[in-house]
Amino acid sequence: QKKVAILISGGGSNMVSLVKSMTGDQAGDHPGRPCLVLSNKPDAGGLLKAAELGVPTEVIDHRNFKGDREAFEEALISAIDPYQPDVIAMAGFMRILTPKFITHYAGKMLNIHPSLLPKYKGLHTHQRAIEAGDAEAGCSVHEVTAELDGGPILGQARVPVLPNDTPDDLAARVLVKEHLLYPEVLKRFCQGERGSFEI
Ligand code: GAR
Repeated sequence: QKKVAILISGGGSNMVSLVKSMTGDQAGDHPGRPCLVLSNKPDAGGLLKAAELGVPTEVIDHRNFKGDREAFEEALISAIDPYQPDVIAMAGFMRILTPKFITHYAGKMLNIHPSLLPKYKGLHTHQRAIEAGDAEAGCSVHEVTAELDGGPILGQARVPVLPNDTPDDLAARVLVKEHLLYPEVLKRFCQGERGSFEI
């Protein structure tokens, strides 16, 4: 079985969907199991949810490193490596990682991004899709490379943009799809599949 570490910064709804897909009633002979949930924010709501799900948690607060990214990432690596993960799944982890960290976990890292990549890398994806007048939006799970939100796309899901949508309306519609997409990509990734698909 592949050991999966999940990195979060917030509410952790994607983390919960990933953990449940590996451990819940429907998990069956899932090829992965959660070994760690790590947050860079001590007050992230997802930490409590992870603990309730019986997954070990760690916190590395980026604010303790006063902008020293290298020291922050060394602390992240020191916290993660004892769990010997095979997969690092970023799920709403809102820190940009340097090539050094990404190289350390090369070929093991996944991220979910709330847009139809390659459109709208970075922040405020839903607002940008609405302002552009796009008819559809969605989410992507991709492999993490040194290019921000730029690694190979492994899966995508689409939703319509409806008239008068606010960014929050659209985010909620996309999030429902994120919770379906990410577990499916993770499962395939743990099985060694690297192709791209759409749900
Ligand atoms: C999700 O919508 C995820 O796609 C997004 O943050 C949210 C986290 O929600 N990620 C990014 O914007 C990455 N740049 P969650 O904590 O409930 O999973």
